[in-house]
Amino acid sequence: MTIKVIATQAFDNQRPGTSGLRKKVVEFQQPHYLENFVQATFNAIGDCNGKLLVVGGDGRYYNRQAVQIIVRMAAANGFGKVMIGQGAILSTPAASCVIRKYNACGGIVLSASHNPGGPDEDFGIKFNGANGGPAPEKVTEEIFANTTSITEYRTCESADIDLDAIGSARVLDTDVEIIDSVTDYADLMESIFDFDKMRSLLSNRRFRMCFDAMHAVTGPYAVEILEKRLGAAEGTVMNAVPSEDFGGGHPDPNLVHAHELVERMNGVEPMAFGAASDGDGDRNMVLGSGFYINPCDSLALLLANAHLIPGYKGGVNGVARSMPTGRAVDRVAAALDIPCYETPTGWKFFGNLMDAGKITLCGEESFGTGSDHVREKDGLWAVLFWLNIIAERNQPARTIVRDHWTQYGRDYFTRHDFEGVDAARAAEMIDALRAKLPSLAGQTFGELTVESADDYHYVDPVDGSESAKQGIRIYTQDGGRIVMRLSGTGTSGATLRVYFDRYQPDPALLGQDPQKALASLIEAAHAMACIEQYTGRVRPDVIT
Ligand code: G1P
Ligand code: ZN
Repeated sequence: MTIKVIATQAFDNQRPGTSGLRKKVVEFQQPHYLENFVQATFNAIGDCNGKLLVVGGDGRYYNRQAVQIIVRMAAANGFGKVMIGQGAILSTPAASCVIRKYNACGGIVLSASHNPGGPDEDFGIKFNGANGGPAPEKVTEEIFANTTSITEYRTCESADIDLDAIGSARVLDTDVEIIDSVTDYADLMESIFDFDKMRSLLSNRRFRMCFDAMHAVTGPYAVEILEKRLGAAEGTVMNAVPSEDFGGGHPDPNLVHAHELVERMNGVEPMAFGAASDGDGDRNMVLGSGFYINPCDSLALLLANAHLIPGYKGGVNGVARSMPTGRAVDRVAAALDIPCYETPTGWKFFGNLMDAGKITLCGEESFGTGSDHVREKDGLWAVLFWLNIIAERNQPARTIVRDHWTQYGRDYFTRHDFEGVDAARAAEMIDALRAKLPSLAGQTFGELTVESADDYHYVDPVDGSESAKQGIRIYTQDGGRIVMRLSGTGTSGATLRVYFDRYQPDPALLGQDPQKALASLIEAAHAMACIEQYTGRVRPDVIT
């Protein structure tokens, strides 16, 4: 086996987005495409000699082939050891856990999250640093700069390694270890939650629950934790076997895509609790019996009940939410007298705050919730948190949420996505709105008057780094807010995301349909941004 240095040419479209580089599989299959990005990442790490690298993915099409390519390149770049999840599987939070536990210099996670998989669908790659979290912008920008100037990459000729057998192999001077994908993560969960209490809840056959793994990566994790360690009935985890195309579905845990689960939560004999996770296991959706729990409320509730969980009994230092996320958690933080930070969209912004000990819990409206136990959002962790709360309080999820609203008031929230719109027109729309910002205050749209408007600019409180143009925010005089931004995770066209939220303290008005409660804001957003004129759309494709 010898090292081979392969001449290559730069591709001009390898800038990582909100969460790594995502493209169609065919794009990744072009000669040198994946290799260039991997070498650019290794170059950004600097000296790889003797270091430990963790590698795994969500099991989607091209995952296994990509792992074989990365192993050869890691060996040729001098890594001391590569740790890989069995079957090339590691959920995003499990990868974060393994990186931290074994002091790796970082890890490569192969995933396009909730995007569909298969030969004609999406693939993705992201680099997580030694803290187990997504690389911060200065690292992703360095990787990107390397992709634009790359002229060669290093690899070697070696047979494919057996990804399915636990054990060790050697490629050049590099140890390659296949580890159980689930154990380290499941042990971590057991160290945070009260498994005894949860076991007695789940062994009560009157408490029927269901977890939809959506044919994606959390299947094996959920079976081990919920069914084996916590004794939930066999079959509690549905769609439990990861498949390369997620069973032809969209592994996105929302009311539209997790419809099988939604059906079980409604109807004649609804289950007491339901949950789903996404392609790579970092997102969660939680449902009570016939009752949807918005992720913004969920984050607020986890904070309000954290004192019931063994892993958080010591207290919560602070909390953070992404800017477009509804402000329910802010109220709980204020009541607890702990800091509440606002960050741009994307998990990478939470890492600094966690590493500096400023926050313990954080979340995003996009079905992402997490804590400092790892440096990624964590779908199954959120589900276990909820189960632990239900076991402690011995109340249905619906009652827990209703009580919360009665105590704090309700922050109505909804997000409207306009998918596959023309990228140039969408950018023009945002630019036009940005140009209007200075004059918006005082203007009236329907029954609403704009109080203030800006383009969100973030200054990281830990290292002072700045991120500009992170979304347009429009505040109305009645306490409402509209946020507009373009998605940074799509692979074709553009997705316009419009977020709406408004606080309602009146106990008589807590049970409304969010679309109705927010209707005046929705109308105002269409009017001020001229959404139809630029996108040709009157209604969104997805509402969450
Ligand atoms: C979306 C979500 C964002 C999340 C990201 C990765 O990014 O909106 O909150 O962190 O996926 O899961 P977007 O497509 O909006 O850039
Ligand atoms: Zn994900």
